[in-house]
Amino acid sequence: MVNTESARLFLGSDFDKYRQALNVALHSDEPYLNAINKYVLGVRGKEIRPILSLLAGLSCGSLSEQSYCSAAATEMLHTATLMHDDVVDQANMRRGALSVSAMFSAPAAVLTGDFWLARSLNLLVSKCDREITLNFSNAIRRMSEGELLQLDKADRLDTTEEDYFRIIYGKTAALFVASLKSAALAAGADDLSKDCIESYAEHIGLAFQIRDDILDYSPNLDTGKLPGADLKERKITLPLLGALKSAPQKAEFILSEIGKIEGVFTRQSTPQEEEIIANVSDFVIKNGGIEYADEKLSEQIGLAADSLSPLPSSDARQMLIGFAEYVGKRGR
Ligand code: IPE
Ligand code: IPE
Ligand code: MG
Ligand code: MG
Repeated sequence: MVNTESARLFLGSDFDKYRQALNVALHSDEPYLNAINKYVLGVRGKEIRPILSLLAGLSCGSLSEQSYCSAAATEMLHTATLMHDDVVDQANMRRGALSVSAMFSAPAAVLTGDFWLARSLNLLVSKCDREITLNFSNAIRRMSEGELLQLDKADRLDTTEEDYFRIIYGKTAALFVASLKSAALAAGADDLSKDCIESYAEHIGLAFQIRDDILDYSPNLDTGKLPGADLKERKITLPLLGALKSAPQKAEFILSEIGKIEGVFTRQSTPQEEEIIANVSDFVIKNGGIEYADEKLSEQIGLAADSLSPLPSSDARQMLIGFAEYVGKRGR
């Protein structure tokens, strides 16, 4: 099966060129910032977005400096949002280690996130076409909107499945779309190929977040993040929505229980909150919430793979199809 390792091997020197672009772009003369950057670069993530971006470019044509820079900009932008996200969510664990906010401080995480965001925009403006920069600036807007909708819904506790899909399109899929669409543009793709890649990106982005939301209910897996975080933040995600659908008579009670969690406004959960989280997680598992989310996940994976059928067959296209399967099963 394709995974991040086999995809990186397949990409070979193209992956190295993306890494090189990223390292150069992060240079700074500030020692404190360099110390934080060293820490962040020492606990790298899976680099799924640049991998997909390079594969998408290859499936539409050949790669150029714009392709490497746009892949680097994607990963920098993504990492910036994670630093900010861990402040917003008060999350202490990221990538199997302390988050930047826990290791340094919340202000340091916000400001380092700003630096990564600024550097990513520098790179786009200086090395990439205007349309690519426009794609990414749109994604940043969508991400902020998605996160704010999520915050508002966590406050009101009235998330519907439609809201859920709007949230995850904004906070996660929009960046996959900007990144892969830009890769297709940089490779000189025709309109049909661009549309195929855009559709693939949307479905794989949604699938990626659904899998992430399932993993949050999987305490036995080593995901590199603490499980149960979503309920702690009062996030109503697809597994819970599925369970509520299958036991509607319990919905009012479950939602009023979640309402007792103070969510993102407290640092430490109380024993009563821990108990509510354990009971609601149990409710989700017993009422088929994981299976429900899994079904929707498979649907998105299928749609992602189907999106690519009009593209001419190539090794890169095969890798993208295989990668969709990996996203549906990933454990981290
Ligand atoms: C985490 O993304 C944030 C989500 C959109 C769920 P990744 O799982 O790609 O994070 P890293 O970069 O590999 O740590
Ligand atoms: C991930 O949001 C999407 C971002 C915009 C960072 P989450 O809060 O669901 O992601 P994790 O679980 O912290 O990685
Ligand atoms: Mg978040
Ligand atoms: Mg989070």
